[in-house]
Amino acid sequence: MDRKQLREAMLALLEKDQVLYEDLDLMYYSYDSSFLTKTERLYPDVVVLPRSTEQVQAIMRLAYEHGIPVTPRGAGTGETGGGVALHGGIVMDLASWDDIVEVDVPNMQVVVRPGVVHADLNDHLAQYNLFFPPDPGSSKMCTIGGMVANNASGLRAVKYGCTEQYVLGLEVVLPDGEVIVTGGVRSKAIKNVSGLNLTKLFVGSEGVLGVITRIRLRCWPRPKARGIVMAVFPALDDAPATVLEVYQAGILPSGIEILDQSAIRAVNQFKPEIALPEAEAILLFEVDGNPASVDWEGTTIREIASRRASQVEWATDPARMAALWEGRSVTATAAARVRADGSRVFAGEDISVPLSRVAETLRRIRELGQQYGIPVVNYGHIGDGNVHTAPVIDPEDPAEVEQVNRLVHDIHLLAVELEGSTTGEHGVGAVRRPYAELEHGGAVKVMQAIKQALDPRGIMNPGKLF
Ligand code: LAC
Ligand code: ZN
Repeated sequence: MDRKQLREAMLALLEKDQVLYEDLDLMYYSYDSSFLTKTERLYPDVVVLPRSTEQVQAIMRLAYEHGIPVTPRGAGTGETGGGVALHGGIVMDLASWDDIVEVDVPNMQVVVRPGVVHADLNDHLAQYNLFFPPDPGSSKMCTIGGMVANNASGLRAVKYGCTEQYVLGLEVVLPDGEVIVTGGVRSKAIKNVSGLNLTKLFVGSEGVLGVITRIRLRCWPRPKARGIVMAVFPALDDAPATVLEVYQAGILPSGIEILDQSAIRAVNQFKPEIALPEAEAILLFEVDGNPASVDWEGTTIREIASRRASQVEWATDPARMAALWEGRSVTATAAARVRADGSRVFAGEDISVPLSRVAETLRRIRELGQQYGIPVVNYGHIGDGNVHTAPVIDPEDPAEVEQVNRLVHDIHLLAVELEGSTTGEHGVGAVRRPYAELEHGGAVKVMQAIKQALDPRGIMNPGKLF
């Protein structure tokens, strides 16, 4: 089937506004936030925007019959090329299929279609005093479908875990067009240990096993109070040491973020009025829960942090909390501006290491940056050892591109060497695939066997994961 026939076949299955193939549209879908898509042109042949399970089925049946690659996509906020077609074919944009199907208040769950935006879901759930806790930085853009496909987490994972902990069941269209429901066809149960855990298999499968068309999520009661502690450390090692002491005091904050010296400088250079204190590291602890426990936790963290920090502040006033948090919220943007001619590279940007090795990791990444002559800004979710690294280069300079690719490779190897993972939250996509064997050894064969069983023709998001 050639490109023209494929477009016509899609037009026969869908409405006109659900099929895109103009050059500009295809260009839009050739990108996500990864460095990969800045250096390579990865155009699909056609983009479809299905809005029912039947439509997804019809597309998959046709693709299966003709062996056409299908790449499911959410909002395109990914950083690893996961939602970009490496081998042409169909990009299936699920972002416009954004119905909140049912909020089941007595059973504390919500059923959604894949395109619901994270922030919209939580705004909607707020009226029932419920919330869906995982919170990626891209809340106002990213879709729940994308979060499930990538097992997304973010700022609150330290206490609330990743998306997988909230997915009770899924409707999935398999590559041959068959529909299955995981977690029990009729089940509204929260606890369920019946059968192989197919829900877990599909969560984080990055579109290589099927298309997620319906998601049943567990919700949590919305916490009533929140507070933030900011602590400033003259010595880097005192930051992770303080995190450990906070845990040992019996406190599990809802977020613990670190800005190291490079990030502090980047923020101050980008927005001098934020005026972060010059230091080796700043920690931001967020605590949430009932007002009495929030108060106790916040003041206890203040006391613990004061042993090592040069400056500590505890705040519950919303305006003050926002001010304390501002440094963290602008870090990603600030990082990209540390060089006037520079651009931030999203590659090797989310390695995850054991807590005990965070300081070592930050130091080693700094050394690697110096070795390759590339400025690197470091920050991240220190509470679970998830480090965000932002190398800044001139992407038009081939020599710098080559150097940064080496740097990123070394960062990935460093993660594995330090008993961590090449990706704590952004996934494998197209770019961490080379590390599959190194990270998983013989388990890759099992992954491939599962892939082969579900997708024998290899049409689902080919070129990703392994
Ligand atoms: C963050 C995203 C990029 O934490 O993971 O900022
Ligand atoms: Zn993150």
